[in-house]
Amino acid sequence: MNKILLIEGDGIGPEVVREAHKVLDAVSRRHGLALEYEQALLGGAAIDASGVPMPDATLEAARRCDAILFGAIGGPRWDGLDRSIRPEKGLLQFRSALQLFGNLRPAILYPQLAAASTLKQEVVAGLDILIVRELTGGIYFGEPRGIRTLDNGERQGYNTYVYSESEIVRIARVAFEAARKRQGRLCSVDKANVLEVTMLWRELVSELGARDYPDVALSHMYIDNAAMQLVRAPRQFDVLVTGNLFGDILSDAAAMLTGSIGMLPSASLDINNRGLYEPCHGSAPDIAGQDKANPLATILSAAMLLRYSLNQSAAAEAIETAVSRVLDQGLRTADIHSEGMHKVGTREMGDAVVAALA
Ligand code: IPM
Ligand code: MG
Repeated sequence: MNKILLIEGDGIGPEVVREAHKVLDAVSRRHGLALEYEQALLGGAAIDASGVPMPDATLEAARRCDAILFGAIGGPRWDGLDRSIRPEKGLLQFRSALQLFGNLRPAILYPQLAAASTLKQEVVAGLDILIVRELTGGIYFGEPRGIRTLDNGERQGYNTYVYSESEIVRIARVAFEAARKRQGRLCSVDKANVLEVTMLWRELVSELGARDYPDVALSHMYIDNAAMQLVRAPRQFDVLVTGNLFGDILSDAAAMLTGSIGMLPSASLDINNRGLYEPCHGSAPDIAGQDKANPLATILSAAMLLRYSLNQSAAAEAIETAVSRVLDQGLRTADIHSEGMHKVGTREMGDAVVAALA
């Protein structure tokens, strides 16, 4: 029996998680998997219910489960709160408490969506890259941090960008291993021309590559150049590995190459491949509750959950194939701009994926 924790979250979170849940149920019936579910709160919904963005009960539930499927958090309703109890803080505490340091964000262009990309088709056709983002360290978590008042009365905001050797090596290993299973190319992204923390990053990634992964072709790129290359010639990349903040930015850019941010799933894994699975998009409060959100990123995240945490790659592939089929059928949600296609709502898209399962 595998236990999955469902965390709907805020905004469009509940709508997209519901569709992914439907798909998980259907695929588990077809593949004879015994799945059991629990529900928990995180983010704004948790603040409303209990005053804190990450209740202890949620963490305990996560520890009892084999994997977590999560929607999205945040929204204007909670924007005025003190930064210590903002919804985003809940997600960050959650990732950190569970030591989910390895964030995998695959950006794949489904050929059916080539025309929906803002880039020319010849630039993005066949795009298949994986961004490996360090998720529990770097400037997101570095201390000291805060907003202080200087002697002259002026306020000053400050954060600390830190990575220790062990943090760098363990995320680099995840990336090298991933590259080995793909085309064998890894590009490490840093700002080693300016920041000491990434000088150390570059040194350690190079050492590890030379020692343990001589079969992987390793290159290094500065973040500014990488951002530019990602929109100039994205297919030059196979796997990218980078720190928390750079990875946050690059993965949003990569998402758009695929035609819609509504298509990008993610996995956040600990050292034992227990994981949190979530779409890369946010809570989109402007369209919440209107049956307009694209559930495919969450549905594809459920596929990653089956593959990485439950070791059910056949069931994972069944979902991915079904997604491809509904795109073949011409179904598109509102976030995907393509002419002459059949626009459907969140629920209809989820039902279509279920129907397309082999
Ligand atoms: C993401 C999101 C989060 C992040 C926010 C919601 C805290 O942008 O998962 O990419 O910055 O990590
Ligand atoms: Mg982000």
